[in-house]
Formats: sequence, C-alpha cells, structure tokens
Amino acid sequence: MTPTSAAEDSYREVYGAAPDGVWAAPGRVNIIGEHTDYNNGFVLPIALPHAATCAAGINGTDEVRVASLQRPGEVVAEPLTSLADNEVAGWSRYPLGVVHEYGRRGHAARGVNLVLDGAVPVGAGLSSSAAIECAVAVALRDLFSLKVSDDDLIALTSAAENDYVGAPTGTLDQSASILCTDGHALFLDVGTGERSQVPFDLASAGLDLLVIDTNTPHRLVAGEYAQRRRQCEDAAAALGVASLRDINDVAALSSLQGVLLQRARHVVSENARVLEVVDLLRSDQDPRTIGPNLTASHTSLRDDFAVSTVQLDTAVATALDAGAFGARMVGGGFGGSAIALVDTDRTAATVDAVVKRFAAEDFTAPRTFVATPSAGARRLS
Ligand code: GLA
Repeated sequence: MTPTSAAEDSYREVYGAAPDGVWAAPGRVNIIGEHTDYNNGFVLPIALPHAATCAAGINGTDEVRVASLQRPGEVVAEPLTSLADNEVAGWSRYPLGVVHEYGRRGHAARGVNLVLDGAVPVGAGLSSSAAIECAVAVALRDLFSLKVSDDDLIALTSAAENDYVGAPTGTLDQSASILCTDGHALFLDVGTGERSQVPFDLASAGLDLLVIDTNTPHRLVAGEYAQRRRQCEDAAAALGVASLRDINDVAALSSLQGVLLQRARHVVSENARVLEVVDLLRSDQDPRTIGPNLTASHTSLRDDFAVSTVQLDTAVATALDAGAFGARMVGGGFGGSAIALVDTDRTAATVDAVVKRFAAEDFTAPRTFVATPSAGARRLS
C-alpha cells in the first residue's frame, strides 16, 4: 500500500474528500553551469531528494483552490477567468501561474483543488519555487490528460515564473525538476534542447556532495539577476552573436572591456568547464578529478560575474581548507547555498569546520546536508 503523504491528509481535511492523486517534483543543485542557461549554454544539475508534493483533485467548478501545508488555515480561491488579471499575491502565484499558463496555451485545464507541501528549503538557491511549479504542472497534465511534452512543461512552468511571478530566470530549475533521473546528472544544452543523463555515482567512489546552505536568503526578483542577464545580452550584441553560447573561446572576447568582458568571460569559460566535467564523468575517471573545475567556477562567479557573497566565499574556502576536492556556490547567487565535493569520511569534519568558521565570523548558522541525485517530477499515487 502506498503510504499517505502529509499533502494527501491535509487535502482530506481542507476539501473533505480524497484527492484524485498526489504528485511530486524536486528541487535541484547544479553541479556546474551557472548563469549559462539564459545564454543558451550548458548546465549539469542533479535533482534533490527534497521535493514539493501536490495533492490534487478535479473540483467540477471553474475555480482553482490552493492550500499549502506551509500556510495553515489559508485557502486561496480564484476563478479561472480572473487568473489573467494577475492580481493574486504571495505564495499562491506559483501554482496559479501554472494553471494560468495552461489556459493561455489553450489547454483544457478546469477547476482544481490543490494542497501543496514544499520540502525544498526556501531561499536556499535550491529551486523551491520551480519544485512547486513543476509539481502542479505534472498534476494538471495527468488530471486532465493534457497532451504536453516535457519540453512544453518546462516552457510553461518557466513562463509562470517569468511572467506571472515576475522573476526573470532561465530554464535551468524547471528543466532539472522535470528531466532529472535517479543516480544521474542531467547534461542539458539549453540552446538546442539536447540532453543526456550522465551517471553520477559519488557514493561508490567514497565521495559526498555536501550542500552548505548559508542561511542567507537570496532574491531573484531583485534587480541584480536581471542586470546580469542584460549585461550578457549586451556583450553578445557587442560581439555580433545571438547569444554568448556562440563564443567558445575567451580569446574571442578581446574587443570587450570592463564589466561586459568580465560577464562574458564567466559565461564562455563556464560553458567550457561544463563540457570538461561531462567528459571526465563519462570517461570513468575518478569523480575527484572534477573538483578543480568546481572551484574555478566559484572563482569566476565571484570575480567575473560578481554574484557571490562573503558567506558563500567563506563556505567554499573553509570546505577547501578542510580537504574538499572542489567547492562552489550554486544557483543564482547573492546568498543561498554552496556545494563541496568531499571524501565521505571527511564530511562530518568539513561540516564542523564550516559551522565553527561561521560562528567565529558571527554569520547565521549554516544548514548542511548530503545531496544524492534523485528522481525528477512524478506521480506518487
Ligand atoms: C537561478 C535561475 C536559473 C539560473 C541560475 C543560475 O537559479 O532560476 O534559471 O539562471 O539562477 O545558473
């Protein structure tokens, strides 16, 4: 028998009946390939075991109702016809944005009752919002038997994030949540949509991927992320290419100067690092060999892309001092999490070193966990 989830129990309490089903979609950490997605470049995320769960049922009305275990007592109800007005506030914009996107694309999604349970840490740069969007998107697809491909799901959940929530992000997070598979990293060429699953078995190599959440929330709606995106577009325009993806050698950036040179250099060098990491992982090398690329990615994000923070830099430096083979900030930056590749028998000592260093610096205490590559969005029951 399938164990009932908290979302399912809550659904019964809120709506007085059993849901038609329960779906889940994970958060992610990106192994490498940061700020490359909106430049049509390469990314290599894994899905986390932490997921958003969505219990859902058709309600036979023209209304969407949403409750969340993280917002006890609140049920947001919106007529399908008023979703476009974009007036709803706060957390419910994520699920409602997905319903709206289905409607806007002409899919026959009608009234539904939803209960959400977000288990991806919020504000940690681990894609808690994409997890919610993708869990709702797969629930609606299945409930209404909608003919949508994985690529459609990625496009509509990303549109919900960009247009409804108003965060000008790329498609990394939603792609990871939909496409990742257990035991693998997803190698995705955002420009062409081509992808493959790269075996990512750290445990058998005696390694852990340690996630260090610096507990300093990041905000992507704020202007910095949008500004980086614009600078990349400006750099591409100055170079006469459609996107920075079209440049594969930093030597070709010599006509740029100042900030545009720095931003472009990060993107071009980061794409090359993704390709190198994929080659190393595919060629059965010891996964420790990817470490220097992870650390180089961090240096580039810190110095050229200027999206790191003192807490992220401290987490990375402390992990490296404690013997990590490589470490880097993940996600958009300006707070959030770092990852470190460590020998399993050094994980506890690394955590200890980071916790002590944060305390000595008077930073908020970090949260840590070991990430294992987990399954993408799926139906649970
Ligand atoms: C955030 C965005 C992604 C991506 C990363 C940086 O997570 O949501 O689209 O741009 O930042 O790689």
